[in-house]
Amino acid sequence: MADSNETLTVRLWRGDATEGDYHTFTVPRRENQTVLDVVTEIQRRHAPDLAYRFACRVGVCGSCAMMVNDTPRWTCRTHVSKVAGDGTLTVGPLRNMPVIRDLVADMTEFFDKWQKAGGRFQGSRTRAEPMAEVDTTSKARRHADASIECINCGVCYAACDVVGWDKDYLGPAALTRAWTLLNDTRHADQRGTLDRAMDQGGCGSCHTQGNCMRACPVGISPTGAIAGIKRMSLLDFLGMRGR
Ligand code: SF4
Ligand code: SF4
Ligand code: FES
Repeated sequence: MADSNETLTVRLWRGDATEGDYHTFTVPRRENQTVLDVVTEIQRRHAPDLAYRFACRVGVCGSCAMMVNDTPRWTCRTHVSKVAGDGTLTVGPLRNMPVIRDLVADMTEFFDKWQKAGGRFQGSRTRAEPMAEVDTTSKARRHADASIECINCGVCYAACDVVGWDKDYLGPAALTRAWTLLNDTRHADQRGTLDRAMDQGGCGSCHTQGNCMRACPVGISPTGAIAGIKRMSLLDFLGMRGR
């Protein structure tokens, strides 16, 4: 049997949307090794046709997310020493999304829901007008800033149980984006964004248990954002929004 201090036993999902299985590989342990390093080593030395995604390798692009021992993670910033204490790793494509091939999940639905939630900023001024000023010390701006660093990795989406059984649910990332826009005083379509976030498949479906918040690698709280939208909607209903 391989020594878990010197080697890792890695089970990797190989397959497509219709069928597949976990294949087992043995990889040497290395100092400061990340899960993405392990996947790359397997692709280079054992499985040249392995499909997986990455780009920046430094936690910026959001493309390298996978299931690691049943937990969604950004693999380029996940050290093996943190997740494979017993010398074993199981790596698969992100949950709650169809599989394209091997470790590559199809994120079409994830981004479609962003669009459905109205995730696009709509300015209220023309080029001829002076630039809008933003009060950087306001409470609204602090809320917007807290969520603006989302890297669209899909980790929260894979962590969310409600997404798993309600395909209409917009999910944590799209609703967090809506919260950012609702706190951006320059965003013109406040009414449309709030209505979409509270419509069928929106904030009302969230169970507020915080799986998304615990999983987010950059420390964003979709749970808090969704609670904020619900609070804003109530104040709006009572005619007290903005007070
Ligand atoms: S708190 Fe809401 S968005 Fe987050 S995982 Fe739970 S149901 Fe999903
Ligand atoms: S909220 Fe966090 S986990 Fe979700 S997509 Fe953005 S960065 Fe990733
Ligand atoms: S490769 Fe860009 S975030 Fe991991």
